[in-house]
Amino acid sequence: MSDKKPWAGRFNEPTDAFVEAFTASVDFDRRLYRYDIQGSIAHATMLADRGILTAEERERIIQGLEAIRERIDNDQFEWSVSLEDVHMNVESALTAAIGDAGKKLHTGRSRNDQVATDIRLWLRDEIETIRGELLRLQTALIDLAEREAETILPGFTHLQTAQPITFGHHMLAWFEMLQRDRERLADCNKRVNIMPLGSAALAGTTYPIDRQQTARLLGFSGPCENSLDGVSDRDFAIEFSAAASILMMHLSRFSEELIIWSSAQFGFVELSDRFCTGSSIMPQKKNPDVPELIRGKSGRIFGHLVGLLTLMKGQPLAYNKDNQEDKEPLFDTVDNLKGSLKVFADMIPGIRCRTENMRAAAMKGFATATDLADYLVRKGIPFRDAHEVVGKAVALGVRKGCDLADLSLEELRGFSGQIEDDVFEVLTLEGSIAARDHIGGTAPRQVRVAIERARRRAV
Ligand code: ARG
Repeated sequence: MSDKKPWAGRFNEPTDAFVEAFTASVDFDRRLYRYDIQGSIAHATMLADRGILTAEERERIIQGLEAIRERIDNDQFEWSVSLEDVHMNVESALTAAIGDAGKKLHTGRSRNDQVATDIRLWLRDEIETIRGELLRLQTALIDLAEREAETILPGFTHLQTAQPITFGHHMLAWFEMLQRDRERLADCNKRVNIMPLGSAALAGTTYPIDRQQTARLLGFSGPCENSLDGVSDRDFAIEFSAAASILMMHLSRFSEELIIWSSAQFGFVELSDRFCTGSSIMPQKKNPDVPELIRGKSGRIFGHLVGLLTLMKGQPLAYNKDNQEDKEPLFDTVDNLKGSLKVFADMIPGIRCRTENMRAAAMKGFATATDLADYLVRKGIPFRDAHEVVGKAVALGVRKGCDLADLSLEELRGFSGQIEDDVFEVLTLEGSIAARDHIGGTAPRQVRVAIERARRRAV
């Protein structure tokens, strides 16, 4: 390709062919074309209003850009690597189509403020899409929590049986994490939605531009305050990657639970066949591939966060070509995040709880030991002493190979005379969960109230 480079004026020999390909970004930044054109239309509109372009030039530019957009939409645009990036490809096609007016579009701006504007416009849209998918996943979790508000399973600490909980309560824990993720993204968007355009190369421009107007036209909350910062700041991308990483960390933990729960050894849940795959050699296998893959994808997204931090850490002001390396990690983060959220939201409604297995598991491992201690406290025994008494009862259960509820009243009274036959109520699973009846507790009654609140917050 021998497209003339817009910056060729001061050069005496052509770019080395490999260097041209090596430094080009068009293969990946062409994805920004809609935002690039949107930014250019706003810029041309402002330039004309300020008398820097004529109304006729503005019209030719806008029509030319819209025609280019349509060509790209319909895959009828020829991208050129020698034109380096999306910005010069579009500008050069514009000049080819409309002549001299096209050459005036770049008045008062630089690719440095242009690219920073494009990425922010793009990321703003993607954040909205991601927040929408998050909401869909949260709603699926609320529905599942409602369906299984009374289903009992063992809750764990250290992955050892701790206390009985309800499945609905467990799902609402995931809801909370995702709610924070959604808030974090909205907050991040406040700093994404600020306009670098008008910073020009680094110092601003000598033309009497109106940055408030372009910001308004593009729906930004306002122009950035400092032109040096405007062209070089990638904090917004790092911040987004951090929010994306935390979100993926949550999805990865959730995945891990689904993987453990769907194993033959736990047998707590069954994932629908549509989200699993088989083995080419072991006929019995049904593998939880979707959660496993999402757990794996968290790694690359954390990697992109570290990559972007490292990209920025040594850069002096203002723009440096290093910044071109911001796009691929960002694109990959967005694509994988959206994919992971979509598949998760689709998968949740098909989760089937194997209630009998969960119940049987909750019956094992002395899950109601704390309830027995609390019972003794209500009878006037200090908690530390009660803890000791129950510890001894558990030791007897371990020796006999049975749970607390299977010990006789005489055996239990051997540890404390305060124990009476009403003790067996607190040793049941239903008694244990129903007793945790306060905001944030696992009692089915509280779970239902929490579901109501969650529905109001999931907007
Ligand atoms: N392709 C470049 C990037 O992605 C656009 C800005 C280039 N500016 C420059 N002066 N080389 O960062």
